[in-house]
Amino acid sequence: MCGIIGYIGAGDVCRIIVSGLKRLEYRGYDSMGVAIGNGGTIEVRKGAGRIDDLVNRFHMLDLKGDRGVGHVRWATHGSPNDTNAHPQLDCTGKIAVVHNGIIENFDELKRMLEARGHVFRSQTDTEVVAHLIEEELKKHADFEAAFRSALRELRGSFALGVVYADDAESLYFARMESPLVLGVGDHGMFAASDVPAFLEHTRRVVLMDDGEYAILRRNSWEVKEIESGRTVPKEVHEVSWTLEMAEKGGYPHFMLKEIYEQPEAIAATLAGSLKRIGEFADMLYNHDKVILVGMGTSFHSALFGKYILQRVLGITPIVEEASEFRYLYDGVLDDDTLVVAITQSGETADTLAAIKLAKRSGSKVLSIVNVVGSMATRLSDGVIYTHAGPEIGVAATKTYTSQLAVLAALAFTANDDRDGINDLRKVPEKIRETLNVRDRVAELADVVRDKRGFFYISRGVNVPTAMEGALKLKEISYVYAEGLSAGELKHGPLAVVEEGTPVIAIAPADDLYKKTLMNVEEAKARGAFTVLLSDEHGDGDAADFQIDMPEMNPLLTPMVYAVPLQLLAYELAVRLGRDPDKPRNLAKSVTVE
Ligand code: AGP
Repeated sequence: MCGIIGYIGAGDVCRIIVSGLKRLEYRGYDSMGVAIGNGGTIEVRKGAGRIDDLVNRFHMLDLKGDRGVGHVRWATHGSPNDTNAHPQLDCTGKIAVVHNGIIENFDELKRMLEARGHVFRSQTDTEVVAHLIEEELKKHADFEAAFRSALRELRGSFALGVVYADDAESLYFARMESPLVLGVGDHGMFAASDVPAFLEHTRRVVLMDDGEYAILRRNSWEVKEIESGRTVPKEVHEVSWTLEMAEKGGYPHFMLKEIYEQPEAIAATLAGSLKRIGEFADMLYNHDKVILVGMGTSFHSALFGKYILQRVLGITPIVEEASEFRYLYDGVLDDDTLVVAITQSGETADTLAAIKLAKRSGSKVLSIVNVVGSMATRLSDGVIYTHAGPEIGVAATKTYTSQLAVLAALAFTANDDRDGINDLRKVPEKIRETLNVRDRVAELADVVRDKRGFFYISRGVNVPTAMEGALKLKEISYVYAEGLSAGELKHGPLAVVEEGTPVIAIAPADDLYKKTLMNVEEAKARGAFTVLLSDEHGDGDAADFQIDMPEMNPLLTPMVYAVPLQLLAYELAVRLGRDPDKPRNLAKSVTVE
């Protein structure tokens, strides 16, 4: 996820763009840059680092101009450095492009453009757009035609902003599966990834749809279809958001926003990883032993990894908490071992220590990471990125389900299981459907708000889901919870169950459903307040409270069943007056052991 902004009009153009970028910082913060047009020239200043430091380092606010674009980056292709920061330029330096999204066919386009003499400077997928427009300008007399023609060649997702030195009257934008909205000001026109970027200047917005491009001029805007070039009639809407509301996309907390971003995060993760995952899938077969490591939520992903790799590939991976890994495996690892390290931040000290031990022992390390360029990515032999975008809330939500998506993709790809991949592609839609249970979850939160101990139980592939549900609750509402296999309940924990203790069962209608239901009944018989998450609707009174889930491939249910559990933790935290984004005693990246 990255953020883009563009402005053409009166006033201090660069200052307007920089202040807009600060409002978009939640979308990416590893690098930033601007391209400011002043008549027939454009000047680009950009680099890796935080906005304020870069603005000072490059004296950005001294730039004078009449139009410009800006970008905050969350690296996907190419590590975060000065060269890979946007804007990206064509060979002539006259076309500057900012981009949010992933150009899936950038490899093919780059090869074609290089063959025609274009020289690339960065490792980004974005740079192909600048060169492609330059190439199209050789065939088309006007810039708009070249721009549209280039857009029609692109596959993947994009919100693009382009400034062209030889067209001082206009800015160009386009949208395909990445957010982009126009702002209609009194003294100029805006485009941005999100409304807060220009909210201090105007509340009047035009919503762009996929497959459209826009031309902004000082006093006018126009939206057209990429495919046909036809003008699309659009309404101007007035938003009533405050700036603070708008930064969180209208959500009261980042955590809630990130829960709702999961369909987009998983779709982007699959789009970004599926193409290249085959080479990593081979690593699974080429090693005698596979050990999955992680901490906290990432450890739960590792547990899911064990289930899916076992069920789909028939291999038997080991799972360890990264912090315990060194006590068990020092001296026993070798080059026949593959360690799969799962870490959102790529900076967790325990996980880095495990990676270093594996490397010292001659083992290969494959990491699944969200933060591009983080330490884990630099230490590993192979990296698969989740493309979940920056996660601001301390509680991992969208990065968790994106990690599960990568593990499932890895298993299905290694097995060449097309049906599995097709089912995986449906997961974003299943999550969208599931997000509708929010009111039902809120009802449940009202019922259990005074409870001080929760159990989450399941069997098979959803045992990690039960553990993750319990972790979310502890983490943000400070209420004790335990997640465990349903079979384990009667071997001790059942003694804690008393009148009203919430026991939440995750039980998709698979071959384990009936067995889990028996454990629900055992808990109910001891007075528990039982909650059932299931797509089986036939057993109406099996539990005291049911949350209906969509039917789907049972192996992939952990991605979808995690959602109501995240929502429950959130709803309870809010009712108990906790700040879900910043839970006490915790940090987003745990960089100490
Ligand atoms: C999850 O909600 C927590 N914030 C925590 O358990 C986290 O998953 C753990 O610290 C590992 O972080 P990582 O994925 O960045 O390595």
